[in-house]
Amino acid sequence: MKKIIVTGCQGQLGQELMRQAQALHWEVIGVNHQSLDITDAEAVHSTIKQLNPDAVVNAAAYTAVDKAETEKALAFAVNRDGPENLAKACSDMDIPLLHYSTDYVFDGRKTTAYVETDSTVPLGVYGESKLAGEQAIADNCEKHLIFRTSWVFSAYGNNFVKTMLRLGAEREVLGIVADQFGKPTSAAEIARISLHILQQPIQNWAIYHLAQPDPISWHGFAQALFQQAREAGRALKLKDIHAITTADYPTPAKRPANSVLDCQCLEQTFKLNIRPWRESLAQVIKELVKQ
Ligand SMILES: NC(=O)c1ccc[n+]([C@@H]2O[C@H](COP(=O)([O-])OP(=O)(O)OC[C@H]3O[C@@H](n4cnc5c(N)ncnc54)[C@H](OP(=O)(O)O)[C@@H]3O)[C@@H](O)[C@H]2O)c1
Repeated sequence: MKKIIVTGCQGQLGQELMRQAQALHWEVIGVNHQSLDITDAEAVHSTIKQLNPDAVVNAAAYTAVDKAETEKALAFAVNRDGPENLAKACSDMDIPLLHYSTDYVFDGRKTTAYVETDSTVPLGVYGESKLAGEQAIADNCEKHLIFRTSWVFSAYGNNFVKTMLRLGAEREVLGIVADQFGKPTSAAEIARISLHILQQPIQNWAIYHLAQPDPISWHGFAQALFQQAREAGRALKLKDIHAITTADYPTPAKRPANSVLDCQCLEQTFKLNIRPWRESLAQVIKELVKQ
């Protein structure tokens, strides 16, 4: 891959993609919400045509899971129409589109990890809009890769790790949901694997699951991150993390109780190993403690 466009380049994943592609000395053009609104079909088409990249990586998305319940039109514009615009433009140019979707396309009733072919039954508007985006891409651009990922964290933007560190410095006790299970995944690992795959000759255009081992609950993830933060020298007021249930913490959007993604298909198809989230977490904590 010589030249790529990264849309949504100022999001968590967008920033990591930019940083890592630059480190690999790729020609990478980042466009943010202001410079390219992906819901603007004409702008998407003319920008991609003019920049003439070898691939487009779409890190732009509407990611406010709870707010989406009351902003359905906006969620669908960004998560369905935006990907459709990109897919049509990439198809016209005969270049690949790499896009990201979510574990929230599943309802969480399965008792084992989800594979790519499992039925999708989103519980909320965000999941519905992301699923519609997957379908719009598959319908409009043959050369597509869609990576469903989960529980994304990084040193940038808003995410669970950053929220927990802020709360842990302010409060002595926190109640964290212990009956939802998933795979925390760092933006850095998603970017590393995305760029690794883009360097290969690709034949297997499809949807893949991309999340870091091993499964854990939000409560378990909080315990791990606070332990690492303490070890890294972060001062915390926190003394206790209570395990609570989903029912104890009602949210506007329902979340799946199990959103663990089985990633064997990605690992086998592209001959790679996804690193455990604990390793990536240590890197992120190190960066955050420095700030
Ligand atoms: N975060 C998670 O836990 C999670 C979990 C599973 C899957 N994912 C998926 O992973 C991908 C990356 O997520 P992320 O956490 O990096 O998201 P993020 O930090 O929220 O970044 C999304 C970026 O998209 C931009 N954007 C929003 N609307 C846009 C538009 N109309 N045109 C162009 N840019 C627009 C935002 O810019 P503004 O802020 O300026 O609007 C923001 O910079 C997304 O596809 C997401 O659905 C995320």
